[in-house]
Amino acid sequence: MSKYSSLQVTIHWVVVAMIILQWSTAGAIPRTHNPLLPPAEWDLFLHMIHNYCGMGIGALVLLRMALRLRQRRRISRFSDLVAATVHWGLYASLAAQAATGVIVAYFWAPAAWSHKALWNVTLVLVGLHVAAALWHGVRRDGVIGRMLPGRRINS
Ligand code: HEM
Ligand code: HEM
Repeated sequence: MSKYSSLQVTIHWVVVAMIILQWSTAGAIPRTHNPLLPPAEWDLFLHMIHNYCGMGIGALVLLRMALRLRQRRRISRFSDLVAATVHWGLYASLAAQAATGVIVAYFWAPAAWSHKALWNVTLVLVGLHVAAALWHGVRRDGVIGRMLPGRRINS
């Protein structure tokens, strides 16, 4: 039986989709702040999607951390420790990115460097995470199945 509930699996994949949306909408933001040109309606719409979707990611990551903390996990091997470090690193970098996004957009624009730097941290962690997931897929050791819909524990 999987270690993750249907709710955890659903949130995992919804957040993956939302992160792709964040990446694809971010480019419109500097265009809306061009001092020489009035902002295009479409770019303003993409900026709004980025802000609300980013806040949604922040809320979902907090929920995800709470769900994970309710489950007692034994760390018995070094690889468990590495996986837990990368997972908690992902939660932390996404929560911090949502928080710095709100600060940059509504309170203090000069903090934009921190939001951009955190994106690089997230990318590195996602890279490690996806590489590990692919490795488990090649080994067919059942780890990928934990994050796919199927027989689940109750949330
Ligand atoms: C975890 C959620 C988020 C992710 C993954 C994310 C991702 C990104 C990325 C990739 C960029 C472009 C960085 C660059 O140019 O190097 C960006 C820029 C930006 N984001 Fe977010 N973002 C998130 C949440 C938010 C939130 C919640 C807000 C506002 C409420 C926000 C507001 C902004 C703004 C204003 C910029 C432009 C910064 C600048 O160039 O001055 N973001 N974001
Ligand atoms: C933006 C991309 C991603 C992020 C931020 C992310 C984040 C996470 C986090 C935080 C966990 C820990 C459990 C949880 O909180 O739900 C997790 C588990 C997992 N993820 Fe991802 N993930 C991403 C993409 C992917 C992709 C593309 C795959 C598959 C190729 C994948 C496969 C898995 C698997 C199999 C687990 C369970 C690992 C285990 O039980 O040890 N993830 N992911």
